[in-house]
Amino acid sequence: MHDPLRATPWLRAASEAAVRRAGGTTTFTLGASAPAEFAAGGFALEGGEKVALYQSLSEELDALLRGELDPVANAANAAAAIFHSLPELNWAGFYFLQGQELVLGPFQGKPACVRIPLGKGVCGTAAAERRSLLVADVHQFPGHIACDADSRSELVVPLLTASSVLGVLDLDSPRPGRFDVIDQAGCEAIAAMLVQHKLSH
Ligand code: SME
Repeated sequence: MHDPLRATPWLRAASEAAVRRAGGTTTFTLGASAPAEFAAGGFALEGGEKVALYQSLSEELDALLRGELDPVANAANAAAAIFHSLPELNWAGFYFLQGQELVLGPFQGKPACVRIPLGKGVCGTAAAERRSLLVADVHQFPGHIACDADSRSELVVPLLTASSVLGVLDLDSPRPGRFDVIDQAGCEAIAAMLVQHKLSH
């Protein structure tokens, strides 16, 4: 049987790591009464198509940022490319750590809250715990910070270097259960690639 992940070793490894970490990933599932179309994670692409989408997005971002040293330009272009490449998003962007709080960086979507204390909300929790948070229903995440009332599910991936957390990549969707472990693995691979570029001061 064709295994789409076999063709993309970097994402295969990231996907497997994400699945292994699933025990440590905070996933808020929908109740049994949720409509069936909301119950499954992921958008209307086959797994292999999603893997291919993340692979091409990662390559596009790598090329887009290569050689540019302005962090605002790089983060702005990355947010725009992510927002316009991935379906069913209403917000995509960055928060960067300054002291004990995350400060809003370049993004696409409606205006958002500017400062998030470390440990607060989905973003602050992901940064404090240095791990991705996959939230199927934001209304069930204690302390979720609602910047856009349309947001129903969220994926936050920390931007990690060997020794520190630079900030987070935050994706919001108006559809509950929009994100799954392939999205998580894809975004973690993208985050790992992005921190190799100049992204923050
Ligand atoms: N929902 C996030 C806040 C940021 S916005 O979604 C853009 C949180 O709870 O941290």
